Amino acid sequence: MAATLEIVPSVLPADFSRLGEEAMALEKAGVDRIQWDVMDGNFVPNLTFGPDVIAAVRPHVSVPFEAHLMVNNPDELLGRYVEAGCEWLLVHAESTMHLHRTLSRVTELGARAAVALNPSTPAEAVRHVLDLVDMVLVMTVNPGFGGQAYIASMEPKVAEIAAMVAASGRDIDIQVDGGISPSTVAGAAAAGARVLVAGSALYKHEGGLEAAVTEIRTNAEKAIAQAGG
Ligand code: DX5
Repeated sequence: MAATLEIVPSVLPADFSRLGEEAMALEKAGVDRIQWDVMDGNFVPNLTFGPDVIAAVRPHVSVPFEAHLMVNNPDELLGRYVEAGCEWLLVHAESTMHLHRTLSRVTELGARAAVALNPSTPAEAVRHVLDLVDMVLVMTVNPGFGGQAYIASMEPKVAEIAAMVAASGRDIDIQVDGGISPSTVAGAAAAGARVLVAGSALYKHEGGLEAAVTEIRTNAEKAIAQAGG
């Protein structure tokens, strides 16, 4: 599990007409990575970023990129997102018949693999692929849109996966994504999440991006300390 917390913005709320500048503003605000929410209109009822959009933004910043693949049949697209400059590929367990093969392929392509779970998918779905991933993403909203309410009932699943990871002895991060804000992050962090994705909470914060990043990081650190972590 990551020793330090990582704050990862979702760029869904950003101004798409100037994504390069938006990425630079996020990097300046102190984020650790940038998450691209890739949606195909099938796995989720929304459409977003093809690899060419991400490739166009890549030269503007140096922070690592991750592609959160909310697509059916991700196998066909893996290589394109690695070529576009994504160091991490996040594959949904529900999106492929052969998750073990898909995650293995991500590593073969030289990227870091993560498995993502929709809210209704049990933690058990990752048990037999923990040896293939560097991160597990527990969705804290039903994927497809930003600005939704945080689902606190996912915290026991985060804790269950944290116990599975501890038992595996591997260095695997737990990420949460959806409704994460200064007022919701404590529960997820106390349960074991160390990589925190936020979209609307960053862009709507009255103090701006940097203040939002700092407040989420500080509130998570406090919760971890109180939980004895
Ligand atoms: C939803 C995406 C999230 C979302 C987060 O499907 O995976 O990354 O954009 O946005 P907020 O933080 O506004 O819920």
